[in-house]
Amino acid sequence: MFVYRPRWLPNGSHGTQCLAMRGPLRDRISPMKIEPSGGILGARVSGIDLARPLSAADFAAIFAALGREGVLCFPGQQLDAATLRDFAQRFGRIQTSVTGKHHHPVVPEVGFLSNVIENGEPIGLADAGQDWHTDMTYNATVGFANVLYAVKVPRRDGKPLGATQFANMHAAYEDLDPALKTRLADMSATHDFNKFWESMRSRPGSTRPALTAEQRRSRPPSVHPVFLTHPITGRTVLYCNPGYAVRINELPEAESERVLKLLFEHQLQPKYQYEHVWTESDLLMWDHIGTLHNAVPDYGPDEHRLMMRCQIMADRVFDPAFVRASLEPLAAA
Ligand SMILES: [Fe+2]
Repeated sequence: MFVYRPRWLPNGSHGTQCLAMRGPLRDRISPMKIEPSGGILGARVSGIDLARPLSAADFAAIFAALGREGVLCFPGQQLDAATLRDFAQRFGRIQTSVTGKHHHPVVPEVGFLSNVIENGEPIGLADAGQDWHTDMTYNATVGFANVLYAVKVPRRDGKPLGATQFANMHAAYEDLDPALKTRLADMSATHDFNKFWESMRSRPGSTRPALTAEQRRSRPPSVHPVFLTHPITGRTVLYCNPGYAVRINELPEAESERVLKLLFEHQLQPKYQYEHVWTESDLLMWDHIGTLHNAVPDYGPDEHRLMMRCQIMADRVFDPAFVRASLEPLAAA
């Protein structure tokens, strides 16, 4: 089996080294700063080295900011696969590759998103996330947060390509017509992995094969409330996305179609959107529960993009005890 060994790893390294813990010293001097972007989402976090273990206080501040700001950029981080995993797994279980492909050879929790071809094989998932969606809503345990580390960013004429766009689902819920909020308050939607897969397949140049019956059985649709209470902010979000939501279960089919179309148009209005333009060594983390995202495919096959990624599942974040314990240092401060 072909095993991709990342070229950016230093000679002799398997990308698993971890810097020594210097937590107590860092706790005293931590100058971490979280500056909101001024847009509808997003904040820039500086003064923190994510290659070192997080203090409880820094973890609490990042956890709270993730819910509040939706998208956090930590620029200039120097991470390898192991330190990326160690940071991500503080927030919940990391999803490992279902296919057994496109992940780090030594740290399987870290996947590759990339259009780079080596030895005739793509080293990562090349067309990941190229339309509006929220990760893993087709799953019983949904996604909580994505953590991406930019190794290679494509550029044309000096301009970075392959931006990631986000939409704010706290704001989208707040602005919904009150009558619709009341009507949909106790309703649920079915989310189907095959919807997004088929929409990617229908694109020109797609090489994705149709899912087999076995693959479809292994990822059966899942049902979630149309509106969710965000576990960190305690506010309501619109938890329905055009990538996977196929049906509002309590409505007749035609009415479900009409309402879903209305919700999708509403939530994708430019006023809810925020765009992250990548720079190498950005660590970008976003909250799936309060946002939608879209990967902009504006680069060609020879314009190389490489991201290391950890997908954090929502296995802990809906546990009030975990949230309380995570945020406790903020209350004590
Ligand atoms: Fe995604």
